[in-house]
Amino acid sequence: MEPIEVAAWVTHSVFAGLWTGSVLFLTFAVLPLARDGTMKAGPLASITGKLTTVSRVSALLLLITGGHMAAQRYTSETLVETQAGWLVLSMVALWFLLMALVEVGSKKVTAGTDQGKLREPARNARPFFLVASVLALLLLVNAGLISANTLGFL
Ligand code: HEM
Repeated sequence: MEPIEVAAWVTHSVFAGLWTGSVLFLTFAVLPLARDGTMKAGPLASITGKLTTVSRVSALLLLITGGHMAAQRYTSETLVETQAGWLVLSMVALWFLLMALVEVGSKKVTAGTDQGKLREPARNARPFFLVASVLALLLLVNAGLISANTLGFL
């Protein structure tokens, strides 16, 4: 058993699920309530603040563990010349875009909730979180393709 590799793969999977799941939950469970005016600005700000923390911690841990995993399984040639390498590079691009969109979307929410507003910030943030949700799903599809490729099914 190689405990560092096991820890890297497990941590990567845990934070992949936590991050993508949290983004999807905010987009499809929380923001609609705020747009309808059926919650208050305080709880929306608090939930969005927690999502920002989850997003930053997950992004950092995914970068560290993913970088380690890539160093174990790829060389600079296999990263750019193989199907699996392209999937990993797309994962990095999606990672960056998801992180950026969550930051911008969260700022849109807190810019309004700081002034006690609810519906307007939820409306302003919605497009960013919708795109972030698509990226989160693409990341999960990408991870599934990596698994299928590793198992020789692709
Ligand atoms: C800087 C960002 C990232 C890097 C460098 C990275 C890198 C990697 C690498 C090298 C692997 C193993 C590939 C292989 O076994 O051939 C992997 C697997 C995986 N990644 Fe990422 N990743 C990153 C971000 C993410 C994100 C944001 C998610 C969120 C969904 C994610 C989810 C996964 C999952 C679930 C696997 C397991 C697939 C498997 O090995 O069966 N990764 N990643």
